[in-house]
Amino acid sequence: MKKTLLVLLSAFLLLALSGCGGNTGAPTGADEEPYEDFIVVGFSQVGAESDWRAANTRSMQEALAEANGYKLIFDDAQQKQERQITAIRNFIHQEVDYIVLAPTTESGWDTVLLEAKAVGIPVIIVDRMIGGLDESLFTCWVGSDFRKEGDVAVAWMEERFLGEPINIVHLQGNIRSSAQIGRTEGLDAGLSANENWTLVARESGEFTQAKGQELMEEVIARQIDFDVVYSENDNMAYGAIDALKAAGIRPGIDVTVISFDASKAALEMTLAGEISYNVECNPLHGPRVRAIIEQLEAGETPRKFTYVEETAFDSRTLTQEVIDSREY
Ligand code: AHR
Repeated sequence: MKKTLLVLLSAFLLLALSGCGGNTGAPTGADEEPYEDFIVVGFSQVGAESDWRAANTRSMQEALAEANGYKLIFDDAQQKQERQITAIRNFIHQEVDYIVLAPTTESGWDTVLLEAKAVGIPVIIVDRMIGGLDESLFTCWVGSDFRKEGDVAVAWMEERFLGEPINIVHLQGNIRSSAQIGRTEGLDAGLSANENWTLVARESGEFTQAKGQELMEEVIARQIDFDVVYSENDNMAYGAIDALKAAGIRPGIDVTVISFDASKAALEMTLAGEISYNVECNPLHGPRVRAIIEQLEAGETPRKFTYVEETAFDSRTLTQEVIDSREY
């Protein structure tokens, strides 16, 4: 009798737990739909290589927070495309409502995006572009015009050096990422158009401060003569500036440093004259992605491609007020 009572009690408890729990946003058991009250978004992020990337992650996490009705499944790919492909496959397996991809590189996405398409999960691409792809494999893209950023930097160099001969050290981002491709194309066009410009060193610093410093130290050790450092992001510029200072070379006086991103810390260095020109790359994509999802939820068709507006900062005209008003 005692045993029968115990079995009945356990069965009742099990029923109560599985049927009347209400969705708290966390998966609680095999039979229960996880996160059923939320719009579930799987976000495959490139990594955590730069201040820009950290600001981008924060923006996505804030915009797609539970308080706004979202459950964000975040994956940091540590700058590896294979990890992103695995993350996307996991999102498909988890039956997320949307996949957001910030792609490491431009190519190599066809197969996995075809898999997402086959199960009807919309894919939103942010930040960098993917190239040569069947456009039906993603819903839309929002990000930066990296080639334009490169062109803006080159136009400033032309105005600043007015035909003077200059030697340029080029610190590239991750090879095959559209941020690297566009900014490098911009510089290459400048090199072709300005016969007095000479490229004296070019290597990838993978968008990190440590690598930027290492590459600059190598250039200095090889006693290469240079006037300009064209650094494809702020973090590599920080590293390069540390190396310059350690060697007694004054950034902004002995050499001109050009950078991309224009994050707050880098703008302080621009105001101080250590970075002469900084081209903005806007990382605040969270609200943009949320607006796209809201459109899709409402049955509307978002624009296929959206380039964000960006500006650039010259150390001669930048003010503290501008820096104070920046969000990143
Ligand atoms: O794709 C944007 C680039 O990636 C940023 O310029 C860089 O800082 C980041 O790592």
